[in-house]
Amino acid sequence: MSTIDDVRIIELPKFLDARGNLSFAENFKQIPFEIKRTYWIYDVPGGENRGGHAFRENQELVIALSGAFDVIVDDGVKKKTFSLNRSYYGLYIPNGLWRTMENFSTNSFALEFGSVNYLPEDYIRDYDEFLKMKKDGKI
Ligand code: TYD
Repeated sequence: MSTIDDVRIIELPKFLDARGNLSFAENFKQIPFEIKRTYWIYDVPGGENRGGHAFRENQELVIALSGAFDVIVDDGVKKKTFSLNRSYYGLYIPNGLWRTMENFSTNSFALEFGSVNYLPEDYIRDYDEFLKMKKDGKI
């Protein structure tokens, strides 16, 4: 069962260059899983939140490719806020944790890599159900 202590910022390689900087990430190297899916969030109106849910199986790496936002991760006992504002930091979130995304800056762009294909059944969208599953050791 995952906890807040399993969430971590992964510093990605960066090649600083007068022509523009470059970063990258590869499966099982910088990314601790195999990417099956990628999704991105953009054009977030001021004050809106995204991603209030947990995944049963999906692990994620979240990158603020542009701008800044906060990711609040919750293991049912403890919560922690990670502020992302660099395109070379990836936030690794294992499955089984509740997470929300808040405080998006203007023109921010969140890129996310996932470890499983999209499956609506993988989502837990009810916080009380999440807490119960966590308490019962089901996720
Ligand atoms: P959702 O994950 O609920 O967004 P958020 O995490 O911000 O709450 O996704 C919003 C909609 O997009 C949802 O109805 C399903 C669709 N979707 C896909 O079809 N495939 C995907 O890979 C993702 C991430 C979402």
